[in-house]
Amino acid sequence: MPEINDDNLTIPEHIGIIMDGNGRWAKKRGLPRTAGHVQGARAFRKCVGYCRDFGVKCVTFYAFSTENWKRPKAEVDAIMKLFSQYLDDAMKMTEEDAKFIFLGNPEPLSDELKKKIKIVTDASAENKGIICCIAINYGGRDDIVHAVKDIIAENVPIDNINEQTLSEHLYTKGLPEVDLIIRPSGEQRLSNFLIWQAAYAEYVFMDVLWPDFEKEHLKNAIEEFSRRNRRFGGI
Ligand code: IPE
Ligand code: IPE
Ligand code: MG
Repeated sequence: MPEINDDNLTIPEHIGIIMDGNGRWAKKRGLPRTAGHVQGARAFRKCVGYCRDFGVKCVTFYAFSTENWKRPKAEVDAIMKLFSQYLDDAMKMTEEDAKFIFLGNPEPLSDELKKKIKIVTDASAENKGIICCIAINYGGRDDIVHAVKDIIAENVPIDNINEQTLSEHLYTKGLPEVDLIIRPSGEQRLSNFLIWQAAYAEYVFMDVLWPDFEKEHLKNAIEEFSRRNRRFGGI
């Protein structure tokens, strides 16, 4: 359950962040799109710290969607190269007790990335600090298809299949419910992010571009979340 802190803020237990707007950030400055991704990676590192400062238990960052492979190969290659650095940063953060979980299908990623993902996951598995999930080659629809395939492979009797069964087979199994989804960049859509998990999340859309996302923006989003009246279908 979300917690109330000293500032009278209701702190979401699990925040999902769609890290969008890197390309537009670069374009505004006459820079190549990849420069936006480099700044975006910096914003990611800082944001983990902000979430920790606010006492957020779990944060999921949308880094690369199953649809992002459509982009020019040079951009995809540059993003993949950056992930390798993201993972080196993640490795450092494991020493500060952060626990890393990767959501999505790692199959099409390079062997080097797969290896680093395994190292970071294993190294932080017992950590008790903030849970930091990174969604790479993640798609909400793919998440559901993957869960259904696993349920069938396990021969789960049809009468035993309910919403909980599905939840327990998603990439997010065991994580707290998603309370808040933040999307910077001005777009107001999920773009296939956590479509099952965000069924009752609150959505905060912000005009800031992801590389410019600061602690103040996170605070504004949490303030907005605190003002929402969540009813979950009740009254
Ligand atoms: C998000 O920024 C990063 C990824 C999707 C990998 P974009 O690259 O989508 O930036 P815009 O939306 O073009 O500005
Ligand atoms: C969503 O952003 C994916 C990530 C931020 C990783 P996109 O830029 O791919 O989304 P669309 O294309 O604007 O919907
Ligand atoms: Mg975008």
